[in-house]
Amino acid sequence: MQKIIDKRKKSENLGWRIRCFPYFFLIGFTKCGTTDLFAALSHVPDIIRPFAKEAEFWQKYRLTDQIQKDGVILPRPTLGDYLDIYDEAAEHIRQYTIMTEDGFVYHPGVVGDLDPKTIWWYPNWKSIKGNENRDEPKYLTQHHLYHLSKEAKFLILLRNPVERTFSHYQFFAKKRNFTVRPKEFHDQIERFLQGFQTCFKEKSIRSCVYQPLVPSKEASDNLKGSIIGSLYYVFIKDWLSVYPREQFLFIKSEDYFKNRTATVMEILEFLKLKYDIDVVESWEISNF
Ligand SMILES: *[C@@H]1O[C@H](CO)[C@@H](O)[C@H](O)[C@H]1NC(C)=O
Ligand SMILES: *[C@@H]1O[C@H](CO)[C@@H](O)[C@H](O)[C@H]1NC(C)=O
Repeated sequence: MQKIIDKRKKSENLGWRIRCFPYFFLIGFTKCGTTDLFAALSHVPDIIRPFAKEAEFWQKYRLTDQIQKDGVILPRPTLGDYLDIYDEAAEHIRQYTIMTEDGFVYHPGVVGDLDPKTIWWYPNWKSIKGNENRDEPKYLTQHHLYHLSKEAKFLILLRNPVERTFSHYQFFAKKRNFTVRPKEFHDQIERFLQGFQTCFKEKSIRSCVYQPLVPSKEASDNLKGSIIGSLYYVFIKDWLSVYPREQFLFIKSEDYFKNRTATVMEILEFLKLKYDIDVVESWEISNF
């Protein structure tokens, strides 16, 4: 497969290289079971892999200068660089056809972008054109996506926000090697919430939530991400202000974990992809 793609890339006549843009996006939220759901969706024959899993293009890399990788500073990726992720999938989609009843050749494959931070984590929103001197973002990824694809569909997993916050905090603790002490966690949360209250007196909710270093200097960055990522309402409202409600599927993580088969079926129905309940059930038995 890679050989075919390389040959195509080198070909002078690039007109026949297919470019795929995601049909659906799993946009949030971190620590709500998204990794598990990635694994489930990877079994769906019409969702062609590899998918852009946590590529962080939309909320991070395209907005970041000075990206370092192995000590080398890379330029900001372009939309073309992002679409390159789907080159292999695009070639599969080109080859994978079915014949419809009335004799049309049809390519049923789709690609998806799966990144639970897309909806909420915007360290560099000020670098989006039009946001430069603002207190809160006017433009976010959803505005750009709408410009590129009005039909995109979005999956959002939501878990009890208190549990999500604590789970996120534990995740940071593991990653940054600090010990989780319940008392410390509690005190930090209290301080952080007080800082938020102070911020709300002076500014809008959005400007407090999107502000990278507000409100409390004492609260660690770890805690900030843990709390901000649970403020579902603020972010969801921002997405619903751009795309219509029918293009979103909201899933409770608790429901997903109770019955993965039912959730996967619901997702496939929402995405209008074909499914077979026996097959979906067999993934669950064999893979989770
Ligand atoms: C994590 O912290 C412990 C205790 O301070 C230390 O012994 C260990 O080497 C640290 N591990 C890493 C990967 O930094
Ligand atoms: C899970 O959902 C599927 C599809 O709706 C249903 O057939 C199955 O009985 C459910 N399983 C449990 C344990 O509730």
